[in-house]
Amino acid sequence: MKDHSAPWFDHNRIRRSFRRGQATYHRHAVAQQEIARRLVAMLTEAGAPGRFDTAAEFGCGTGLLTGQLLDQFDIDYLTLNDLVPEAAPELAQIIQQANVTTEFAAGPIEAINLPDQLDLITSASTVQWVADIPALMTRLRHHLRPGGWLALSGFGHRQFQELRTLGSAAAAPSYVDADEWRDVLPVGLEVIAVAQAPVVLEFASAIELLRHLRETGVNGQADGRWSRSTLTEFEARYRARFGHNGQLPLTYDAVWVIARRQG
Ligand SMILES: C[S@@+](CC[C@H](N)C(=O)[O-])C[C@H]1O[C@@H](n2cnc3c(N)ncnc32)[C@H](O)[C@@H]1O
Repeated sequence: MKDHSAPWFDHNRIRRSFRRGQATYHRHAVAQQEIARRLVAMLTEAGAPGRFDTAAEFGCGTGLLTGQLLDQFDIDYLTLNDLVPEAAPELAQIIQQANVTTEFAAGPIEAINLPDQLDLITSASTVQWVADIPALMTRLRHHLRPGGWLALSGFGHRQFQELRTLGSAAAAPSYVDADEWRDVLPVGLEVIAVAQAPVVLEFASAIELLRHLRETGVNGQADGRWSRSTLTEFEARYRARFGHNGQLPLTYDAVWVIARRQG
């Protein structure tokens, strides 16, 4: 049984962290950009149609996935959701450039109102922040029409393995490996494709790596209090254990899943 009162699932804290990073996210989230690109490619390769009447995207953030989705697919009506209540300026620009009607629904995807009979529900790099993924998947299945598509990316258990080995709390609550997704999805959602692959970024110093975490908002659970000596000690341990050609690697353990609601 999961403890929903644990700090792991503090929506206010997650919201604060992403809101703080919102202005810098779009430029710095290079791993998430690549992950969103692959999600859209997988949806196409899985045989999705070029056009959807209705779609919903949760955890849309600054629109890294939204933009790539609207480039690849014609969508008539798109419901966008994020925990952060103000839609990001980048998102507004992406929507303006596309021929789509949108509504923005703020709040946790676990609780907001969603349209029924959706043709597509999608999300990139967000589901790891959801405390009870099986419950959310059951809810999403109800909002898909028979034959409707689910296209998600999250992260596996080796997410930020370097930080976790060194004892950092920079982790999200729900990591799911590719081979676990079949058990996570409810009856009636059939897996069409899954994939898992590391996306590794490299940083010249610990301070740059920590800045990257802050600028992308992904350190929602880390306390972020560093003195000069704790930072020096952290960098020395990081270099000794993982240093490579003078760089500090940071592994995003990306996982993609494409599924369809059965009739
Ligand atoms: C790492 S960002 C990903 C943004 C975008 N999808 C992308 O691929 O760049 C995660 C986003 O999910 C949002 N988020 C976290 N938990 C959420 C929840 N329970 N419901 C809706 N959005 C959530 C955060 O506010 C943040 O904007």
